[in-house]
Amino acid sequence: MAGSADTNDGKTLSAFVRRFQPLLEAALREQGRLLDDVKSARLHIFFPDKASVLIGSSDPYNSSAALMGIARQSIPAEAPSRSTLKLAEAIETFMDKSEQTRLLRTGMTAVDLGAAPGGWTWQMVSRGIRVTAVDNGPMKGVLAKHPLVEHLRQDGFKFSPRKAVDWLICDMVEKPAKVAELIGAWFVAGWCKHAIFNLKLPMKQRVIALDAALGGIRTRLDEEGISYKLLAKQLYHDREEITVFLTKTKNR
Ligand SMILES: C[S@@+](CC[C@H](N)C(=O)[O-])C[C@H]1O[C@@H](n2cnc3c(N)ncnc32)[C@H](O)[C@@H]1O
Repeated sequence: MAGSADTNDGKTLSAFVRRFQPLLEAALREQGRLLDDVKSARLHIFFPDKASVLIGSSDPYNSSAALMGIARQSIPAEAPSRSTLKLAEAIETFMDKSEQTRLLRTGMTAVDLGAAPGGWTWQMVSRGIRVTAVDNGPMKGVLAKHPLVEHLRQDGFKFSPRKAVDWLICDMVEKPAKVAELIGAWFVAGWCKHAIFNLKLPMKQRVIALDAALGGIRTRLDEEGISYKLLAKQLYHDREEITVFLTKTKNR
């Protein structure tokens, strides 16, 4: 895939790049150099400016399939915050279509910690999932009085569900270690089967803090003999944070 920088200067090159990409693809195909097999490395042609080009490749299982990594999403008119795009992108990124159908079904239940004003909750209720939205702040727009939403003004770190739910989603602004401990505790208690949560990046020692947070979850679940899949990524719509998908798999 060919691209230019996602900046004002870069945009001046985007018309050229759009014309160039199909021509390059056709030429490479003619020479038998472009393989359509999904396991082959992904080719990246990046134009920093008009006079230079950087060529690289990436592992298709560890890179974005979207052009320039930009997962284009339009903000749904009813969603009360732009944050809704993060969860929409996480769902598209971490789950293939069959997992989305299997794991996000009408009638399922979710808890949203740090839910206000409701962008993440909206993604769940728009799929027919009943949500307990925990936040001292107000839920806005259609989420303020939605039949599938119960809003509780409580501390997300102290909240425990009356009954186990399918999903935990969590976008509270807190230290990664504290969020990681909370997520681990939810899985160990059996309060949820799947989770999507954000880890906010600290100002310093970001990699160390994230490794410690993710490592803490892995250690906790391993100790309890819980089998799981954990995927983490800084998404296009993420800012100073990374998004994590954690799901229980069959027990060992
Ligand atoms: C980034 S916003 C969440 C945005 C939301 N995901 C959306 O899509 O609209 C973070 C929220 O976490 C809430 N929050 C922070 N600490 C919390 C806590 N201890 N308990 C509950 N909510 C908390 C804040 O009140 C704030 O509304």
